[in-house]
Amino acid sequence: MRTQIGIIGAGPAGLLLSHLLHLAGIDSVVLEARSRAYVEERVRAGLLEQGSVDTLTEAGVGERLHRQGLAHHGIELRFDGVGHRIPLTELTGKVVTIYGQQEVVKDLIAARLAAGTLSGNPPILFEVADVAVHDVTSDSPRISFTHEGRAQVLDCLFIGGCDGFHGICRGAIPPEIIRTYDRIYPFAWLGILAHSKPVSEELIYARHSDGFALATMRSETVTRMYLQCTPDEDLSLWPDDRIWAELHKRLGCGPELQEGPIFQKGVTAMRSYVVEPMRHGRLFLAGDAAHIVPPTGAKGMNLAIADIRVLARGLERFFANNDATLLEDYSKICLRRIWKGQRFSWWMTSMLHRFDGDDAFEHRVQVAELDYVATSRAAMTTLAENYVGLDYEV
Ligand code: APR
Ligand code: PHB
Repeated sequence: MRTQIGIIGAGPAGLLLSHLLHLAGIDSVVLEARSRAYVEERVRAGLLEQGSVDTLTEAGVGERLHRQGLAHHGIELRFDGVGHRIPLTELTGKVVTIYGQQEVVKDLIAARLAAGTLSGNPPILFEVADVAVHDVTSDSPRISFTHEGRAQVLDCLFIGGCDGFHGICRGAIPPEIIRTYDRIYPFAWLGILAHSKPVSEELIYARHSDGFALATMRSETVTRMYLQCTPDEDLSLWPDDRIWAELHKRLGCGPELQEGPIFQKGVTAMRSYVVEPMRHGRLFLAGDAAHIVPPTGAKGMNLAIADIRVLARGLERFFANNDATLLEDYSKICLRRIWKGQRFSWWMTSMLHRFDGDDAFEHRVQVAELDYVATSRAAMTTLAENYVGLDYEV
């Protein structure tokens, strides 16, 4: 099989890349290890920056997002039992939108399958195995894989390494070239989805002496909640009653926190991770393949989308004008935004979580920081402009 861009991974990064390239008349094939049902049902975070919504809308995949997404104009920070609203839109003129990552994935898969490819290749191959990249520093890199029991090779001109944190692309960059920055947090999030009315119209980020809690949502009837827990938390120790009791306590809620059937539970690890550079020859890493953030700042999917904007434009310029300058600068441009996203996610995480071993001084400083953010217009503007998303360079 032959295509212009071979893409590994059908998450938001790989699918958006394939879709944007298609709009620019560039052929691609996406290779995905899992089934279509698996990637469409995988529960992840769900908050889109204004720029992410605009990117998806301009790409013609925003119809259901605009119908079903929930636009938010503020968030609440809760600490010492008191809530403080950060008026995002008043401070920045922008909104954020709640729309599950798997919904973005569904919309992009539908768009890719409907449009097909110029070469007549299948746009996405699901359930591929044994994926490996070859000759990435040559002008004709290749991807070998197995599909339906048959060994195949995809010849291409560039490779999009969009295969997430556990993918194989990052490992194709020689260790002497790549530099890794890593921080693992001593806690995780226990996340649930429940059929119940959200506590409030806006998200509530709560700091409590027993640990962080976040009240978010997926719709007017589906609540998404998170509780700080240990990285190796045993879910069997968290029957529904215990989850609701802990949410009531940490969020400081009364009857407005309505309980309902919990239909999904999972533990999300908390890690900050970046590799530099994000490019080796004709292999480009994007999204979680190159960087992950703790979910506190809701930046994961948004950073993936921002990488893809740069990569898709770079490839477009290369094929339209034989101009490789944007591709040459890909890593540098992406990393500037990624490090600001890292800083913000780390800061939100540090400010809101319980750190075992912290003494009374650190505890006081943490509350003073929240109090400052909640009362100073300058400080809350800093939070707001990062939360809604900094302007794109590309
Ligand atoms: N071959 C083919 N596909 C693979 C391989 C492989 N060897 N390894 C992983 N994949 C697939 C995964 O199954 C997954 O569908 O690559 C895809 C990567 O998608 P995501 O993990 O969703 O990563 P990305 O597209 O970068 O999106 C980033 O995901 O984890 C969240 O918070 C993160 O919201 C952010 C988003
Ligand atoms: C979510 O809705 O899943 C969500 C929202 C905000 C976050 C993290 C997750 O910071």
